[in-house]
Amino acid sequence: MLFCLLGLLLATNSIVAEFADSSPNKSMDFAAGRSLFKKLWIAAPTATKSSDGLGPLYNARSCFQCHINAGRGHVPLPKQRAVSLFMRLSIPAQNASDRQALKTHRQTVISEPHYGTQFQTFAVTGLPAEGELQIRYTDVEVQLTGAETVQLQQPEYRLKNLQFGQLHPQTQMSPRLAPSLFGMGELAKISEQAILQYSDPNDQDNDGISGKPNRVWSREFKQVMLGRFGYKAGVASLDEQNQLAFAGDIGLSTPLFPQSWGDCTPHQAICQKAPHGHDTQQPLEAPKKVTDAVLYYVSHLMLPKQQANPSLENIAGQKHFIQAGCIACHRPHFQLDDAISNQKTITPYSDLLLHDMGEGLADHRAEGDANGKEWRTTPLWGIGLTERINGHHYYLHDGRARTLQQAILWHGGEAKRARDYYVKLAKKDRQQLLKFLGTL
Ligand code: HEC
Ligand code: HEC
Repeated sequence: MLFCLLGLLLATNSIVAEFADSSPNKSMDFAAGRSLFKKLWIAAPTATKSSDGLGPLYNARSCFQCHINAGRGHVPLPKQRAVSLFMRLSIPAQNASDRQALKTHRQTVISEPHYGTQFQTFAVTGLPAEGELQIRYTDVEVQLTGAETVQLQQPEYRLKNLQFGQLHPQTQMSPRLAPSLFGMGELAKISEQAILQYSDPNDQDNDGISGKPNRVWSREFKQVMLGRFGYKAGVASLDEQNQLAFAGDIGLSTPLFPQSWGDCTPHQAICQKAPHGHDTQQPLEAPKKVTDAVLYYVSHLMLPKQQANPSLENIAGQKHFIQAGCIACHRPHFQLDDAISNQKTITPYSDLLLHDMGEGLADHRAEGDANGKEWRTTPLWGIGLTERINGHHYYLHDGRARTLQQAILWHGGEAKRARDYYVKLAKKDRQQLLKFLGTL
């Protein structure tokens, strides 16, 4: 057991340590950022000011607890409390000012009045957590060509043991599993123009695939911009996405989210009044030097190149991927045209646009311009390394798929044609396609 763990740590460290700029100074910055990414925050007050400020409500005590080895999280095992899977909350616009805030993109959602925009399943000592997230899975059978049957797990979510009153009767919920963070710095560098070239919100080319940009208010740049981070592309910049995590997931104040109480609402007065990690010397729990260091780390997380696999089998798998129409959304290439990247080609296998994925995956919760059926195409780079990085397989926005095949079979809406193509392939061809995904 110990040897297994050790092996895993060694294997994963070698992946995480891989990054673009290897000059000694820069690698020290990378290591500093990594240690803050892994740091377990503690509740205030403490003597060592630099580590306190956790909560009062939170989902995890470090970035790493959710983004395990900077990779993806996992759904809770039976009887475990959910950590790397959490529930986003909101309600539809209630009045003219809500409608205005959504229309002008100042907000992507209207918060649930008692619980905020996220359901926190942990709290500091002396304060109750918001409640528990209960998940139940029901098996759904799918038939594939060649008399193969596959079981999918249809999740059902319930928020239980609510500690701060009833939820608003119109509450909308969206479960989210911590995604892998490799390649984020490069996704940040793709120009808006390069992404928008594939946008076709009204499907004018009639291929059944829309590709819609999300437009969101950037707290960092103080303007409406293309959204690109998060499962619905609800956040414009990497720094803002990280700071949102500090505030919402861990409960720490940051330059863009200066309140000490994270996601507590005015209805949670005991939470807003709980001790915090601010003082006159340190007005923020996670000040700019902390968020900058973490930004440096997250921006430089690179995946090692997988060995090129020129086998005939792999070429056939790639051909099925193209012919099924996967590449209409999972765009293999982008060219970076900023000055530093010098026309470098990257291979994220995503268009970073929103697509209607059908009823099966719908959360029925809008976020900015993304409606309740739309999701941003998840980048597939690195997906073949999931086992090596995380030792588990949980795919899709809420980790409901346990294999790549299950993830494909959940595709609906605009992706239904690609899914049906996959289902009709001969078993050998399906396996070639899956093997190809394993090389990404
Ligand atoms: C409680 C679990 C949890 C913690 C803790 C957490 N994250 Fe996340 N992270 C998520 C989830 C879930 C998402 C997807 C969010 C969404 O779709 O709105 C995400 C998304 C992201 C993304 C965007 C990924 C993408 O593909 O667009 C980045 C970057 C990120 N997190 C960085 C961080 C950093 C940095 C920290 C620590 C400060 C952190 N996260 C802490 C769960 C977590
Ligand atoms: C219409 C656009 C579209 C098409 C076509 C499409 N996908 Fe996707 N794919 C998505 C979106 C959007 C998601 C994220 C869905 C979610 O998380 O609920 C996704 C998620 C995935 C995932 C899970 C990724 C992860 O890390 O969890 C895999 C694997 C995948 N797609 C493979 C494929 C394959 C293989 C094909 C072709 C047979 C395909 N997709 C066709 C849009 C598409």
